[in-house]
Amino acid sequence: MSEPLVLGIETSCDETGVALVRGHELLIDSVASSMDEHARFGGIIPEIASRAHLEAMAPTLRRALDGAGVELGDIDAIAVTAGPGLVGPLTVGASAAKALAVGLGKPLYGVNHVIGHAAVDELVDGPFPDRVMALVVSGGHSSLLLVDDIVTGITELGSTLDDAAGEAFDKVGRLLGLPYPGGPHIDRLAREGDPEAIRFPRGLTAPKDQAAHAYDFSFSGLKTAVARWVEARQDAGQEIPLADVAASFAAAVADVLTAKTIAACQRHDVSTLVIGGGFSANSQLREMAAARCAAAGIDLRIPPIRYCTDNGAMIAALGAAVVRRGLPPSPLDLPVDSSMPL
Ligand code: KG4
Ligand code: ZN
Repeated sequence: MSEPLVLGIETSCDETGVALVRGHELLIDSVASSMDEHARFGGIIPEIASRAHLEAMAPTLRRALDGAGVELGDIDAIAVTAGPGLVGPLTVGASAAKALAVGLGKPLYGVNHVIGHAAVDELVDGPFPDRVMALVVSGGHSSLLLVDDIVTGITELGSTLDDAAGEAFDKVGRLLGLPYPGGPHIDRLAREGDPEAIRFPRGLTAPKDQAAHAYDFSFSGLKTAVARWVEARQDAGQEIPLADVAASFAAAVADVLTAKTIAACQRHDVSTLVIGGGFSANSQLREMAAARCAAAGIDLRIPPIRYCTDNGAMIAALGAAVVRRGLPPSPLDLPVDSSMPL
């Protein structure tokens, strides 16, 4: 008998994602985004995102079903992001998932978005070995997870104490006068600059921080250091070497993320590292992670960008793993949780 067909629904931020997964096979992944509507505000507006999900949900589901040649009645289980994320957007996805669960008489599974960013790699690079390390980095999260089992064995070794990596890029992008979201613009500029031009601070790497925060991240001090450096040059009437600032800033972020992650792999005897989340598009992080993993003998797995940004496949992948473990479904009054723990 074939494995159950799992529908995944993701609406935690600005992407409406619907996907179908059977076992470890992704049948289809359909995504709509409201990012263009937020750009002029310089950040995601939850109310606009919620309305966009409401409008995009049914057509995105329709596209997924048609694209996979699947009928609604073929679906065996429905997985949905229960958190973390924006409450309004999460509520639209959860309501759609509950309606489908009731209408089809199929089980509902509320799953964690951050873990989904790691789980999606199983669809691309195959089932995880016994133990993997996962670095999930995006505009909303920066978490280091030790994964013994994607459903029942997640240990959060560290996370950001302030800004997420993508958030820090977006804030530095704003202070450099770049359009929102600044992350990809800084990445592009950085490729033309000298990463060693300016020595920006590496948060939580001082010996005094190592004991309590060996695997935690902090990027707000770095962001302030960049702001001060730029202001001092402006006050002195000097031109800002944008590419060098971008390259030096990006190098500081990539350095801390990769150094701490590889130290965690070595400490926990893990030889497979998965990097997920929208920030894993970052070239500086990719290059440094590839070089340092190769030197440390660590197998690096980074899914293609479309599965790193928010999508339905990550939720369907995690939902399928939950179904495989035979865990009980979520209740139909499943709440959403903006700061859902792991
Ligand atoms: O996962 P994602 O699409 O949405 C969230 O859940 O946050 O991640 C988007 C974040 C934004 O902060 C964006 O600026 C950042 O990832 N980002 C990048 C790059 N591409 C996206 N940051 C740096 N370099 C990039 N190439
Ligand atoms: Zn995300």
